[in-house]
Amino acid sequence: MATLTIPVTPFPGQKPGTSGLRKQVPVFQQPHYLEAFVQSVFDSLADFQGQTLVLGGDGRFLNLQACQTIVKMAAANGFGRVVVGRGGLLSTPAASCVIRKRKAFGGLILSASHNPGGPDGDFGIKYNIGAGGPAPEKVTEAIYAHTQQIRQYRISDVADVRLDVLGEATLDGMAVEVIDPVADYALLMQTLFDFDRIRALFRSGFRMQFDAMHAITGPYAHAILEGILGAPAGTVRNGTPLPDFGGGHPDPNMVHAHELVEALYAADGPDFGAASDGDGDRNMVMGKGFYVTPSDSLAVLAANATLVPGYRKGLAGVARSMPTSQAVDRVAEQLGIACYETPTGWKFFGNLLDAGMATLCGEESFGTGSDHVREKDGLWAVLFWLDVLAARNESVRTVVEQHWRQYGRNVYARHDWEAIDSAVAERLVADLRTRLHEFAGHRIGGHEVAHADDFAYTDPVDGSVSTQQGIRILFADGSRIVYRLSGTGTAGATLRVYLERFEPNPARQAVSADDALRDLAAIADELAGIRARTGRTAPDVVT
Ligand code: G1P
Ligand code: ZN
Repeated sequence: MATLTIPVTPFPGQKPGTSGLRKQVPVFQQPHYLEAFVQSVFDSLADFQGQTLVLGGDGRFLNLQACQTIVKMAAANGFGRVVVGRGGLLSTPAASCVIRKRKAFGGLILSASHNPGGPDGDFGIKYNIGAGGPAPEKVTEAIYAHTQQIRQYRISDVADVRLDVLGEATLDGMAVEVIDPVADYALLMQTLFDFDRIRALFRSGFRMQFDAMHAITGPYAHAILEGILGAPAGTVRNGTPLPDFGGGHPDPNMVHAHELVEALYAADGPDFGAASDGDGDRNMVMGKGFYVTPSDSLAVLAANATLVPGYRKGLAGVARSMPTSQAVDRVAEQLGIACYETPTGWKFFGNLLDAGMATLCGEESFGTGSDHVREKDGLWAVLFWLDVLAARNESVRTVVEQHWRQYGRNVYARHDWEAIDSAVAERLVADLRTRLHEFAGHRIGGHEVAHADDFAYTDPVDGSVSTQQGIRILFADGSRIVYRLSGTGTAGATLRVYLERFEPNPARQAVSADDALRDLAAIADELAGIRARTGRTAPDVVT
């Protein structure tokens, strides 16, 4: 057996500051492209000789082939063991779980999250550290630096190893352990939630529909919901991961999970509905004829956490990304616990979770999680909801409406203006930034502005500072307008406008978000000149 050293040229691939590489499939199909990135990751790490690497992905096109390549490269670079999900599969939260449980050095996760897959879709790879979460900035910067200097990569010249059967094999002196992708994760879930209580709920006739969107949560949902928890067969739909996700867009929101939405609004629809994204870290939850915003979901889970075994002792604190609604802040206030406001992106929660300062965290973009792993976790959120519903024996609608009566309702919507000209978008935000002083202390559209700024965050654990994280206009009545540019869009720029209105009066809480936010949407447009500058008449996506 031989180790091959293959020359490559440095490649302009990864965006600095991102934890991985996400590109269209044909880009990844260029010779040595994946290999050059993987070698750059290994070159940026130290002291992993003999250690364990966790490996798996969401099953999209190129997943299995990439796993074979990475296993051979790990062997040639001196890892002692690769733990890989059978078939090369691991959801993002399950990978985080396995990294932590096995005390691995780190992990490589193959996914492009909610982006479409298949030969014309996207592929991606990212490195997670031993704590189980996305690599922090100093690691991603080191990886990026290596991609700019790489000259060669190392790979074992051996035949493919079988990844479709459980067990252990040796490859060029390294152990390759193929594990059940679901088992460790399912065990962890059983330590957090009262599975007997949820089983009894299903036995009582409670009906649920889970849409795995032909992506990675299919096997997890089949095993946990229909297997361990005894939900009727058929509860999980689109449950077989396909390389192209069945041609769909595996992003759980009202637009892309519309089949689920229709089922939940049907006259004889189920009691509870949920969906997850390509790699299983996002979630959407719904009740019968009732949509729960991710921001409300975080607040409801925080308010009900002590009903659930894993959080019975209470929460150390909660954290939300800045644009996420302030609903959870009101819960934290009543519970007397800290609420942290972080910039957009899951990596900002890691330090708070590691330091034991926050237990639950979430983002408005369908991400919810806790300190059980270091990624957001779609199925975890769904099980949390099921356990709360089982404990309270009430419908989703009742739970949320009662929450609003107690804490007030933060009516919320996000308007996305997609693929607009980058220069126009940059200019729009820059102009708002220079006009912040015109807003604070003044009245806009009849509403008094209490505070306006460009959000900046100082990490309370390591003191690092992140600036220019979004324009915030906070009104005296608790309403808010936030503007920021997407960091993940691929074509042009995406302007996200987040609208929030606080409604304390129970008699007025049953409004549609569209109606309740029309006034704020008009103000947001007028302040920033969105329509005038872009020539558009309406946002592309409202969530
Ligand atoms: C989006 C979401 C953000 C999330 C990120 C990765 O980023 O808004 O909350 O953390 O995807 O899933 P954005 O495109 O807004 O930069
Ligand atoms: Zn995802």
